[in-house]
Amino acid sequence: MPTPDVHFRTIIEPFRIKAVEPIRFTTRAEREAALEQAGLNLFKLHADDVLIDLLTDSGTGAMSSEQWAGMMRGDESYAGGRSFYRFEAAVREITGFRHILPTHQGRAAERILAGVALKPGDIVPNNTHFDTTRANVESAGATALDLPIAEGLEPENRHPFKGNIDVARLEQVLTDNPGKVPVAMVTVTNNSGGGQPVSMANLREASRVCHAHGVPLFLDCCRFAENAYFIKLREDGYRDKTPLEIAQAMFACADGATMSAKKDGMANIGGFLAMNDDAMAESARNLLILSEGFPTYGGLAGYDLEALAVGFHEALQESYLRYRLRSIAYLGERLTGMGVPIVQPPGGHAVYIDAKAMLPHVPQSEFPAWALSLVLYLEGGVRSVEIGSVMFGRQPDGSEKPAPMELVRLAFPRRVYTQSHVDYLAEVLEHVNGLKQRIRGVRLAEAPAVLRHFSARLEPAHGSLLA
Ligand code: F0G
Repeated sequence: MPTPDVHFRTIIEPFRIKAVEPIRFTTRAEREAALEQAGLNLFKLHADDVLIDLLTDSGTGAMSSEQWAGMMRGDESYAGGRSFYRFEAAVREITGFRHILPTHQGRAAERILAGVALKPGDIVPNNTHFDTTRANVESAGATALDLPIAEGLEPENRHPFKGNIDVARLEQVLTDNPGKVPVAMVTVTNNSGGGQPVSMANLREASRVCHAHGVPLFLDCCRFAENAYFIKLREDGYRDKTPLEIAQAMFACADGATMSAKKDGMANIGGFLAMNDDAMAESARNLLILSEGFPTYGGLAGYDLEALAVGFHEALQESYLRYRLRSIAYLGERLTGMGVPIVQPPGGHAVYIDAKAMLPHVPQSEFPAWALSLVLYLEGGVRSVEIGSVMFGRQPDGSEKPAPMELVRLAFPRRVYTQSHVDYLAEVLEHVNGLKQRIRGVRLAEAPAVLRHFSARLEPAHGSLLA
């Protein structure tokens, strides 16, 4: 008799490694100098001075052998290239949308959508706008309105779908502002809110409410595959569906989407804007030609389109998604075990440390999450990103308002780091947790008005980062 399959508990990386990229070790003194040189802004570090780079999961993933092979097939024709049709077919199978416009990344899709849909005085509701989405909405003179459910703002709350949009408030906004909401959005997963998923039930409700008011619903779908897998794991009725089927059902709730394919497109560059409305698509194509390129390449090379056509499907493979979510949850469990407060449960692409809870002695006006991210680099060579009041505190009128949460995001590039990298991270966090009482705040020395976190210069608020 054949032996039945044994289901071992360890979830392994579902790939082996064919090309390696060395990482560089630095001393603490070298990192101290690098931080000073960078104006206490991790965006300004040379990446070679970083040991484990968790700044972002965007465009930082490893491509598969199939993607590299696909790139050799890239058709670089200016118009009507084969690679575009492969890309379009892949996106259409998953999203079902009629018009698919490639863009060089997500924010280009956002800018074009804002350009064709928004005018000054409009309102765009979203569960939580990502920083570039907010900036594009505001630069069109419209208001970017965040409507997360209340649980989404409580880091310790273990609600399974903390990314959900507050449908009651959405309905109120639509009722109170007839004609002023040209589009509503839902971001899957909700990056700024902790990488938290949105349930299918919530998407359906949001869709119903929008359509009752004649408002199109767009998904900011950068991490649609991770969101689909959370639905499979956590929502009744989806256990036996494939991630592709779930993704298709998600997109069926929407009228269009903006996508940064640098995330769940599994590629280093790329994005798209998709929609069903013919007239809107026509205007969007004209804007695309003006700034991105001809509609069959949209600012990408033919080989990028090939990498994406393969990547969208690899992102939906179950063995990959199981490993992906598990590796994030594993770090989350290690941190929780050592008493480091994180947004619970861990999200799909990142662990978010709750710096307000970890450093109660640093006031929000002294940017606790920014300060913590600097110390993680100084002590362990780990680069993370602040999602807090440096990123979101400055209001369009120039005033300052603390962000709802002060988070340090540890975002995982796809298929790049292994479990021992994660174990190292846990050790660094344990060490930093041990000296947290000594961490002191920072202040802005120089900052531009828009998207200031990318280029601001900061300085210690009390002479040094550590007391
Ligand atoms: N929407 C969301 C939810 C995002 O996370 C991002 C990018 C964008 C839009 C913009 O896409 O970078 O291709 O122009 N997020 C990256 C991050 C940068 O680090 O979370 P893009």
